[in-house]
Amino acid sequence: MGRQAVVFNRSLAEMAKVLNSPVTAGEKLLALVQSASRALGVRGCSLMLLDAKKRKLIHAATYGLSDRYVRGGLVDVDKSLPEIMEGKTALVVDAASDPRVQFAEMARQERIASIIAVPVSCGGNVVGSLRAYNRIRREFTEAEEEYLVTVSNLLASVLESSGAPVAEGAAASKGRAQGGRPVARSPIKRVSFAHPSEEEFARLLDFYQIEWVYEPRSFMLEWEGDKVTEMFTPDFYLPALDLYIEMTTLKPGLTSEKNRKVRRLRELYPDTKIKLLARRDYDRLVAKYGHGPLAGAKTEGVGRILFSADQIQTRVRQLAKEISRDYQGRRILLVGVLRGMLCFMADLMRFLEVPADVDFMALSYFGGDDGGEAVRITKDLDIRPNGRHVLLVEDIVDTGMPLSYVLAHLEADRPASLAVCTLLDKRVRRLTDVPLAYIGFEVPDEFLVGYGLDYREEYRNLPFIALVKQEVKKEEAASQPGASQPGGGQSGQKEDPR
Ligand code: IMP
Ligand code: MG
Repeated sequence: MGRQAVVFNRSLAEMAKVLNSPVTAGEKLLALVQSASRALGVRGCSLMLLDAKKRKLIHAATYGLSDRYVRGGLVDVDKSLPEIMEGKTALVVDAASDPRVQFAEMARQERIASIIAVPVSCGGNVVGSLRAYNRIRREFTEAEEEYLVTVSNLLASVLESSGAPVAEGAAASKGRAQGGRPVARSPIKRVSFAHPSEEEFARLLDFYQIEWVYEPRSFMLEWEGDKVTEMFTPDFYLPALDLYIEMTTLKPGLTSEKNRKVRRLRELYPDTKIKLLARRDYDRLVAKYGHGPLAGAKTEGVGRILFSADQIQTRVRQLAKEISRDYQGRRILLVGVLRGMLCFMADLMRFLEVPADVDFMALSYFGGDDGGEAVRITKDLDIRPNGRHVLLVEDIVDTGMPLSYVLAHLEADRPASLAVCTLLDKRVRRLTDVPLAYIGFEVPDEFLVGYGLDYREEYRNLPFIALVKQEVKKEEAASQPGASQPGGGQSGQKEDPR
């Protein structure tokens, strides 16, 4: 046996051992990629997987590549080695000049000269690719390709048994690559979530059409020499935000351990954005849509007043002044998403010194009767935004998910300009990246009512903004399922939440 054959044999033996050990799927993927990279003697290797929409490839398990490269390397399926999606091996001898390499400059900076990629297929569908990156320009041998194909099959079997996102329908990836009709995705059915709350969260993201990947990547946290002793696999990755989300809903006791890991991750990978979604935050989030333990919570009336009627009026006047100055000589189209913004809109428009049209739209909401699987516009604008200066007026921006949907909808009609004015900004809860041009007040992560904001259609007509009085302390509510705390319940399941 030649030297290389011995090396490949050893590597495959090492892999077999890992596959038969009690570690997580993410750890298996990482160990396989690492072993392959060493056996091939290349700069690094990466398992790239299709995202939920099958448009992008995401580095799911990598070895030897810089964090910068991995984060920046979200590539378009049809722009990066497209033959992979047809189930073929792709060989790039010179990454600097090959048109199939989407980010040639980044490859150059990473000192990647050549690439070999083989498809990774589950149940006959391409779900991603295994790539090896070399520092020097060279061809790869047939033996190397065969070895990579074997590793790809091993990776696929890990993916299949862990239920990681897998393409749906035989023609899914091919259809898209050949310009055919995109096949409807249904990743939730195929992903085996560790906890029902993760599945519900995925549905919520799906509802607002926010792209996500479940457990996309493991981060190495601790080493002993060559051996990785601690790893961390965040639950979700939101590609549009380049944000990882770790849900600590399983056992509240594990939260401190997770916090430690997240701290370590931030130390080691300072450019990686990660957000912890704790049980309480999660309960509040879904309670707003009438789900979870906090959904049916009773209130004990209105609590502390955050902003008096006078304070609100003063701030609204200031905002109107700023807006009037910025839009001088133009006519604004004020757009409101029903119904929370009604007091704010009514006051703001009266203080504006520029001409303004007003129109409204409404959305279906998560878990609502007319909700379905994805958010829908239940009432569209009567005035077309095309060519107009659109100012979206919001009561409060919380997660920002409905807002980002509305913005995309308005953007599609090519307004001359598009900006957002919100009275309240609950920034700590943001899950999407929405640009806010005008902000009245930044508010804490508490449920607020009054001046148009409701809790289950209650308290909208209060002239001030106040907290809802809580029956139990937050800490208790967090650890007691079913505890009575209004959390984020904004309305019942039956009514429209706005
Ligand atoms: P987001 O989608 O999470 O940004 O928030 C969407 C909607 O939820 C807002 O437009 C409000 O109607 C409602 N909402 C969010 N937070 C509160 C609150 O504290 N009180 C009342 N309604 C809220
Ligand atoms: Mg609203």
